[in-house]
Amino acid sequence: MDKKLRRAVIAGNWKMNKNRQEAKNLIEELKPLVEGADCDVVVCVPFTNLETALEATKGSNIKVGAQNCHFKESGAFTGEISAGMLKELGVSHVVIGHSERRQYFGETDETVHLRLKAALDEGLTVILCVGEKLEDRENGITEELVALQTKIALKDLTTEELSRVIIAYEPVWAIGTGKTATAEESQEVCNCLRKVIAEQFSEKAAEKMTIQYGGSMNAKNAAELLGKKDVDGGLIGGASLKAEDFAAIVSAASKG
Ligand code: PGA
Repeated sequence: MDKKLRRAVIAGNWKMNKNRQEAKNLIEELKPLVEGADCDVVVCVPFTNLETALEATKGSNIKVGAQNCHFKESGAFTGEISAGMLKELGVSHVVIGHSERRQYFGETDETVHLRLKAALDEGLTVILCVGEKLEDRENGITEELVALQTKIALKDLTTEELSRVIIAYEPVWAIGTGKTATAEESQEVCNCLRKVIAEQFSEKAAEKMTIQYGGSMNAKNAAELLGKKDVDGGLIGGASLKAEDFAAIVSAASKG
């Protein structure tokens, strides 16, 4: 399957970091560093920074994403934000099913599916996160587990909807730990996910699917990870909080 058919996507996941002024500063610093990028560049910022980020990125090649959305359009869901609310602001991307949401906020494969569907219904592009915990890897069930997470999240999608999904393979043990999956481990799982898409949808859909790696990707290890044939980009946490580091990853993806 030809990697050239897919455009790499480098997305920053800022998590619960940066106030509005800091967000503006980081984006202003980033803009000139990534303006010639030959890949898509996205920053997924806290809800309170979305407007600031949208304003600061106007006229640039940086797209803005949120880090979650609820599956209902409106209603008594204290503390939640709907996909329509994100759409109204002008947000283009949303991260769904991040392992921190699954681990600390009770998200299940089913709620991940519902949130993903709601985001797609509003025309957003979804970055769907899947990944195994350390004990899953030790028990040898990584591929079965991520396949199942993916199949449930993507069930009953149309081909058009699927074209607005990016999968981020994020081994939980590699997130924020400084431990990165080796390029080979990452390639193996990304390749397995591509096979899942081929089975669930079609070979053509699988060939077009952007599959990112995430988990302690940084300026130093990005080129090797992104050089693998089924790794089409990265979801970057810690290293997305510094313009130079994030820009170095964008530059590695542009070459890959
Ligand atoms: P990290 O986070 O790069 O800090 O490991 C990645 C993520 O959680 O998306």
